[in-house]
Amino acid sequence: MQAPTGLLKPSSKVAVLTGAGVSAESGIPTFRSNGGYWNQHRFEDLATPEGFFSDPKFVWIWYEERRRAIAAARPNAGHEALAEMEKRVAAFTLITQNVDGLHDLAGSKNVIKLHGDIWTLRCLKCGRERVDRSELNDLPPFCACGGMLRPGVVWFGEMLPEGAMERATAAVRAADVLIVAGTSAQVYPAAGLITMARTVIEINPEATAFSDDATYSLRGTSAEILPQLLLD
Ligand code: OAD
Repeated sequence: MQAPTGLLKPSSKVAVLTGAGVSAESGIPTFRSNGGYWNQHRFEDLATPEGFFSDPKFVWIWYEERRRAIAAARPNAGHEALAEMEKRVAAFTLITQNVDGLHDLAGSKNVIKLHGDIWTLRCLKCGRERVDRSELNDLPPFCACGGMLRPGVVWFGEMLPEGAMERATAAVRAADVLIVAGTSAQVYPAAGLITMARTVIEINPEATAFSDDATYSLRGTSAEILPQLLLD
């Protein structure tokens, strides 16, 4: 589907909410589409504190597999269009549910990571965090202090990173337009941001619960449609 022209101007204040779908064309599976992680695994086992503490090695093996797959992936045209958009408009905030870091790699600067970052490791004993993109061979990994490390992502039932939701809410409320790309919008509080926006442009090959209320609901992939928004 072709995006309508004239939606973005140099004076526009833009907020963007992204989900796993924007990384699909980089070869990273989503969670709930065909072949998505939660069609093959129980999220309770892999993405909750209870699952982690009942079998840290099992959970870490899954995260390390994802880390290696993501390390081999490159940002796609959708990630790149968002990095370019940031340079062209008056205000820009990218709010992502993704933990893969591909928005950073594409060059986006003002990024709020609602669900953390898969490259961050956090010590369960001393609380220290470090970014580590290396291959982790002994799983689970341990901190120098002797504590076990966990992935720096947000699991179901956990708080979002401090201040992240407040900053995201402020950016959406201040924006003329919210672009919602590649998310099924089923996970809260992230999905709740959509109801706070004045104008919503949704980009998704499938309809979501928010499609009928979106100002523009564009059926297509993010790598196809996000670059079109730059063409005005
Ligand atoms: P989902 O897997 O729930 O949804 C992915 C969405 O992307 C679906 O609506 C697809 O139709 C759409 N999609 C697929 N390919 C696409 C493409 N090429 N371009 C655009 N859209 C495409 O992923 P999220 O909504 O991100 O949380 O899931 C939200 C959270 O649930 C994740 O952050 C994760 C997960 O459990 C945690 O791990 C805490």
